Amino acid sequence: PAHFQVAIDGPASAGKSTIAKILATDLKYVYVDTGAMYRAITLAAKNAGLDYTDEAGITALLPEIQIEFLPGEPVQHVLLNGQEVTEAIRSTEITNNVSLVSSYQAVRTDLVNRQRALTEQQPVIMDGRDIGTTVLPLAQVKIFLIASVDERAERRFKENQAKGMNPDLATLKKEIEDRDYKDSHREISPLTKAEDALTVDTTGQSIDQVVSTIKAIIEDHQ
Ligand code: C5P
Repeated sequence: PAHFQVAIDGPASAGKSTIAKILATDLKYVYVDTGAMYRAITLAAKNAGLDYTDEAGITALLPEIQIEFLPGEPVQHVLLNGQEVTEAIRSTEITNNVSLVSSYQAVRTDLVNRQRALTEQQPVIMDGRDIGTTVLPLAQVKIFLIASVDERAERRFKENQAKGMNPDLATLKKEIEDRDYKDSHREISPLTKAEDALTVDTTGQSIDQVVSTIKAIIEDHQ
């Protein structure tokens, strides 16, 4: 690829977006959060009053859906057809239905095209489930980011508490396991480690430690 590509894949709540965003800021790459795009489509279905099982209805919405990212701290802003949806796409309802919506062929084809288009003019760090395997198979660096399910549930628990929610750890753990199961078992580009991806296990590691591990890998490949 003409512009440098870093692909970060892995299961839910492994820290992909936190790490990717820091790396993108440090390296002056563009950060593409593909999970946010699948979440935005799921929210668009909800806003249109569609059932999440309505594959044809959701497919028909796609040409009218605009998704934009704007810079922001600590997270970038996500706009759906010009409307701020940064928080709305992280609700429990969207989180628990996004795996179904993202299993639809038309949804995946549409978003993969949008994701690839974002790499044409600039170096990117892109995170998701199928970046190294499907979206950017020629990425110069591919990372498969993992952590134990207990630690991932714990991280999500603290995040939700910080948002003023009253989370239940066992429920969060089950939701993470369910989502990983669906994402790894769907027919089209399921979550799997690309053959040439390097696994980075973040269990027991601080954000700084993980960032410097991946930075060293990127430097090695430049
Ligand atoms: O990364 P995040 O947890 O926000 O992703 C939300 C969901 O979007 C995933 O659970 C998965 O169902 C879907 N997704 C996907 N392919 C990607 C990124 C996300 O199917 N590349």
